[in-house]
Amino acid sequence: MNDPRFAQLLKARIGLDAESVGDAVIERAVRQRCSKVSGGDAEHYWLQLQGSAEEVQALIEAVIVPETWFFRYPESFAALADLATRRVLELAGTRPLRLLSLPCSTGEEPYSIVMTMLDAGLAPSAFQVDALDVSRSVLERAEEGRYGRNSFRGVELGFRDRHFIDEEGGYRIAETVRKKVRFRVGNLLAADLLAGEAPYDFVFCRNLLIYFDRATQEQVVDVLCRLARADGVLFIGPAEASLMSRIGLKPLGVAQSFAFPLASAEVVRPAPLSWTPPAPLPRPSAPKPVPVQAPMRPRVAVKPVQHVAEPATDALADIARLANSGQAGAARQRCEALLAEKGPNAEAYYWLGLLADAQGQGIEAQGFYRKALYLQPDHQESLLHLAALLAAQGDAAGARRLQERAARGVKRNG
Ligand SMILES: C[S@@+](CC[C@H](N)C(=O)[O-])C[C@H]1O[C@@H](n2cnc3c(N)ncnc32)[C@H](O)[C@@H]1O
Repeated sequence: MNDPRFAQLLKARIGLDAESVGDAVIERAVRQRCSKVSGGDAEHYWLQLQGSAEEVQALIEAVIVPETWFFRYPESFAALADLATRRVLELAGTRPLRLLSLPCSTGEEPYSIVMTMLDAGLAPSAFQVDALDVSRSVLERAEEGRYGRNSFRGVELGFRDRHFIDEEGGYRIAETVRKKVRFRVGNLLAADLLAGEAPYDFVFCRNLLIYFDRATQEQVVDVLCRLARADGVLFIGPAEASLMSRIGLKPLGVAQSFAFPLASAEVVRPAPLSWTPPAPLPRPSAPKPVPVQAPMRPRVAVKPVQHVAEPATDALADIARLANSGQAGAARQRCEALLAEKGPNAEAYYWLGLLADAQGQGIEAQGFYRKALYLQPDHQESLLHLAALLAAQGDAAGARRLQERAARGVKRNG
């Protein structure tokens, strides 16, 4: 069903860019809802959508990509532990630290934040985590707090013993962790998003911007800058890092943490907390890029956006999108094309390793991770994934060496 109206509606509602996610993903969701609601009649389904907010939500639920797991990018949580501990000391009990996870999907990210804070020795009263997502069904699962093996993908799983109850067929998050997160429905594109809320010390917005086109990404980055305090820190996904650099933010300097302090850009005075909502959604037919020097800017003075071609970065963003939406074959092809075109690249080999790993091709995956490490010896994720593979093969000493190397890398960069 190749009817552009559905893709336009999804773009206007949640920012989803058909080119980023692939037409097939949208078509599959529309077909699924259309056959359920309208017996496969596209015109009838379109009319249904016009008159029913519930059906629009159902279509959103069918199209979203909720892929996530605990302690995704572990270095980011190590960096958070360090930053949060220092910030809590500075605050000296004057207010709790405020953290935001948006989008939070099924809860692995905000719960990882809470576990990080508790494991860093912070009192539960010293912080609060808000977690939002546009999907009601993922929020229900998050609140339920029951997880299967797929949510635990890292090497270091000690947190599972500390913060979960082992139940038949899965693990339940401990109540001490669960009650520190306030889940609610929230759309990153909504004009009244978190209206009236004080800004946050730490904002996690990972693996969502990759599904937006350039204009929507810029609009959303403005929103993120408003949601964070002037001395706050944004945590984003690896494929989204170039976007932060483009607006003048500098990375924290901890490898693979993908953290960007707002103060790293030239700081202008904060907008009032009851901030003016972002510009209305662009109409699907005529998307309007947010002007770079709009009167109501975020609190960081942003560099004019330069639409320079960044082929490797864009290709890596594509690879991440394809891989995260389950299109493993296409993601592999994209990696191979990138290597053929641009030559050896640690990130591309890392992705090839990850994709092979996910398909159970351990030997092949090891080869790719080793190539990534040859090119970039401190590539944290390759070190940790290779360590996991060695550990699974019974090579505990080899795995430990790699883990220690990864830990040294984090310390050195910190
Ligand atoms: C790939 S998950 C990312 C989860 C987590 N941040 C991570 O990195 O592991 C993407 C999530 O974005 C949510 N989402 C999509 N569009 C959204 C929007 N406009 N506002 C808020 N959440 C959105 C989806 O429901 C999905 O749960």
